[in-house]
Amino acid sequence: MTEWLKNAVFYEIYPQSFYDSNSDGIGDLRGITVKLDYIRELGCNAIWINPIYDSPFMDAGYDVRDYYKIAPRYGTMEDFEHLLGEAHKRDIKILLDLVPGHTSDTNEWFQKAKTGFPTEYDDRYIFTKCVWDAPPEYRLMCGVCERDGNYLVNYFSSQPALNYGFYEITHPEWQMSSDSPEAWATVDALKDIMRFWLDKGIDGFRVDMADSLVKNDDEKIATAKIWRDIRSMMDRDYPDAVLISEWCSPQRAIVNAGFHADFYLDHQGNGYNALFRKKMGDGENLSFFADGAHGDIDAFLAEYLPAYYYSKDYGYISFMTNNHDMPRAPFYMSEWMIRLTHAFMMTMPGVPFIYYGDEIAMRYRTDLVSKEGGFSRTGSRTPMQWNSEKNMGFSDADEDMLYLPVDHSEGSSTVESQINDPASVYSNLKNLIALRKANPELMNESGFEVVYSKANEYPFVYRRGSFTAFVNPSDDDKTVEYDTAGAKEYYFLGGYEINEGSVTIRSRSFLLIRHEQS
Ligand code: NOJ
Repeated sequence: MTEWLKNAVFYEIYPQSFYDSNSDGIGDLRGITVKLDYIRELGCNAIWINPIYDSPFMDAGYDVRDYYKIAPRYGTMEDFEHLLGEAHKRDIKILLDLVPGHTSDTNEWFQKAKTGFPTEYDDRYIFTKCVWDAPPEYRLMCGVCERDGNYLVNYFSSQPALNYGFYEITHPEWQMSSDSPEAWATVDALKDIMRFWLDKGIDGFRVDMADSLVKNDDEKIATAKIWRDIRSMMDRDYPDAVLISEWCSPQRAIVNAGFHADFYLDHQGNGYNALFRKKMGDGENLSFFADGAHGDIDAFLAEYLPAYYYSKDYGYISFMTNNHDMPRAPFYMSEWMIRLTHAFMMTMPGVPFIYYGDEIAMRYRTDLVSKEGGFSRTGSRTPMQWNSEKNMGFSDADEDMLYLPVDHSEGSSTVESQINDPASVYSNLKNLIALRKANPELMNESGFEVVYSKANEYPFVYRRGSFTAFVNPSDDDKTVEYDTAGAKEYYFLGGYEINEGSVTIRSRSFLLIRHEQS
């Protein structure tokens, strides 16, 4: 059973930037293996690795050329099997990134489908009937291949969408139903890929753009049907493996589609954004967690609470410190504020994810030219900063060969500079992970209840079983009435006072108290 997920703390690895074991300037699988003890030491017991499949890297590997082959720059299949074995020896689970919605236009399926000659892959992608047929409401690549038709793309123009059919058919001459045998043949091809990796022993997949499969499926009804079918395969044949969706709709992803967990992503105006990333065009930061904070906790709760209550019996919502698609936290807040966010995330229900380098508060670089389709995301994908040696310990290669430049700017942190400093972001996060793992109530053995929240006000107070957390990122001390009988401080950042009938939580502070069990 997937019990292990309940107690998981994930570490996300962007493989090209983690650790280069063969001095070619790019991180690789052997490099990840070398650093497994580091990850375990931090307290993480599961890893999500961004795509490692063969790819032309027009979108950093989210454009898969061959789902069955490791990209040579990362190593070989033996290297991968070695990594998996070594991870499992240390009780670390490995999730690969599954890209089900699109391939690279260099994928053999597409290479054949675009020729105009009949092949077995003619219906694997979505082509219009002829090249003059180009309804503007669809993202089509027009007139670029021999086949007489335009094809739908999912993301960049090099990522043709796979054909899982349409739920509502608006152009019957070229759109197939999501129930058609052609659409389900794509599902079968996807299942073959999944089986290949699951048979090797991986522990599941993070699923890229999981909601993108069926087109014209606004309510995601047909898309959910496909995932439920895949989930039954998993339950039957790989009961220990998990599926985690990039979807950001727990109701749809977890309850309807059967994902074990769903990412809480940063979307403009959503709850995650309101908590951590609400920076306005003029630079004003309106996040709940911000220096000089004046955010609105209700903007988070209004979304999170219904999603949590609706999905909690079926799966988990995943908070992440960051990921490879958004600016790292120091772009928005001070290191101190980052610690408060870590305390919050490690005491919330669900399955948390730590993006590589966030444990040392690596910065977001705004001075880089786009790399492999990264564009504004490139600044969050720079090499891991291990130590003060050459290239900050990331690689022995010459500097000009590095995948991306390392951050040598003043004050830039390294693992070496933080790991033995009890006051560092690293040590703080490590302590928090340990605290979470030592207390099943802080993972998923207990529920989540709001004790105190007011729109546009601080603090925010919530209960997790016998624990209560007080969060006050604002500039002012805050006092709330609270029955403190039997309450003892368990962990804090900043300052507090526990009095009879009230708790004062100092400015920019976090407090976790525990009630003695009767
Ligand atoms: C989401 C991934 O996280 C992102 O990096 C990628 O570019 C798109 N999906 C397209 O696959």
